[in-house]
Amino acid sequence: MISFICNNKEISADSPGGLPVLDWIRAQNGLKGTKEGCREGDCGACTVVVGKPVKNGIEYSALCSCLLPLGEIAGCHLVTIEGLSSDNSDELTPFQRSFYDEAASQCGFCTPGMIMSLTGCLLGSPELTVSAAMEALDGNICRCTGYVAVKRSVHSVIEALPQKWENRLDMLIANGHIPAYFKTISQRLGKLPSSTNSSDGTVVAGGTDIYVHSSNKLSGEQPDFLCRRDDLNYIRRDREVVRVGSAVTFNQLRRSPVISSILPGLKNFLSKVSSTQIRSRATVGGNIINASPIADMAIVFLALDASVTVSGRSIPLREFYLSYKKLDMQPGDILTEISFPLPEPGSTLSSLKVAKREFLDIASVNSSMLFRIDNGVILFARVSAGGVSPIPLLLARTGSYLCGQTLSEETIKEACKLAENEISPISDVRGSKQYKIQLLKAQIRAHLSRGVQQ
Ligand SMILES: Cc1cc2nc3c(=O)[nH]c(=O)nc-3n(C[C@H](O)[C@H](O)[C@H](O)COP(=O)(O)OP(=O)(O)OC[C@H]3O[C@@H](n4cnc5c(N)ncnc54)[C@H](O)[C@@H]3O)c2cc1C
Ligand code: FES
Ligand code: FES
Repeated sequence: MISFICNNKEISADSPGGLPVLDWIRAQNGLKGTKEGCREGDCGACTVVVGKPVKNGIEYSALCSCLLPLGEIAGCHLVTIEGLSSDNSDELTPFQRSFYDEAASQCGFCTPGMIMSLTGCLLGSPELTVSAAMEALDGNICRCTGYVAVKRSVHSVIEALPQKWENRLDMLIANGHIPAYFKTISQRLGKLPSSTNSSDGTVVAGGTDIYVHSSNKLSGEQPDFLCRRDDLNYIRRDREVVRVGSAVTFNQLRRSPVISSILPGLKNFLSKVSSTQIRSRATVGGNIINASPIADMAIVFLALDASVTVSGRSIPLREFYLSYKKLDMQPGDILTEISFPLPEPGSTLSSLKVAKREFLDIASVNSSMLFRIDNGVILFARVSAGGVSPIPLLLARTGSYLCGQTLSEETIKEACKLAENEISPISDVRGSKQYKIQLLKAQIRAHLSRGVQQ
């Protein structure tokens, strides 16, 4: 049995832990407000809000229910669009009312997902600003209305929020954004068993990769949920080493004070990685194991000279990728930690990606450079690139050439020439071979110019 609260109702579901929450909501529970679009995390139509008990209350996030296994919400609060109305009331929330007033919805298929993303922002975003609310919609696609009217709604609702409040939940209830029953959830969750069914072996972390291609198979299984393990969820600095548990999500990385103090530019780069809903689930461990040649975090960690700990064995990340999707690990191995040496003072980590769309897209080419420039001399550089080889690649020769060079046009040209010889891109849907070579060269130039500007 998987126990949780769906909207205002306690549930004990006798379903496999691997069943996507979307299927439970629509097929088994008959709540049809949550829409099914792509089933790949791409459209946001299936967005729900999930509240997870944490030390000081409940942490709410908007998630794609098509990629979310039911076993993951044991002990949690699942909120669907129906849960935004009080029992016996069909009053609209301010966002729903404003979408109506501003004509921000035509066919309406994307609208419940958008309202849930915005409600997730109200409940869980560290900041309640127009830009935070707009960013919360980066995983929601509208195919008929467009976004101008949506932007108007966001402005009008966010700007009408009180400037000050003591308790966010009380403020949201008083202003009609959520019903009063939300106040009872924390105490009610405390009485529920939070354990999930025992596992039959398939490892699922955030599920944002494996559910895209194996949802049907996993629907009847009891996966092993790594994100429910506290021992895999930490970010800490141990003297000269930074340690990140494999189940840390992109959003946790983005909000981590430890990471912001060491790698201040990473937060901005992470805003271009997937979408709000995906970042709340996708883990750094899953990104590395997924072994996509354009995995954004693998590229970042390669430039940081990270090591991975796999079933107790420490392996430099640059040696972990053997060939396309082939890793130095055995079946049953678990990646537990990613660690990297603290960059020297004065170092810059620059990460870039170029994709067909600015948001919610994987890269044609991405790259990272960790470097230190002093008085026009590159004291140190390490470069990595994705989309240019069968594996996420460390450009070892380019990096060692740059170390000690004066930063000049000639140096940049020579580095680009060396990089071209280290890579083996292929033409595919993300661009031709020649285009990818040009993209990487442009990114190398851009990384180094960031160093000059500082
Ligand atoms: C809409 C969408 C947008 C995306 N955008 C991006 C993007 O911009 N950039 C990008 O890099 N990726 C992107 N991705 C891909 C994906 O989200 C990431 O690769 C993510 O980091 C995968 O992590 P996960 O925790 O969800 O992995 P899961 O799906 O849980 O797992 C992936 C694989 O790794 C295994 N695994 C996971 N963790 C471990 C572990 N600790 N030990 C052993 N095995 C493990 C699983 O068994 C599975 O085989 C996107 C995906 C979607 C659906
Ligand atoms: S159905 Fe498209 S994101 Fe889930
Ligand atoms: S209103 Fe039709 S897809 Fe957005």
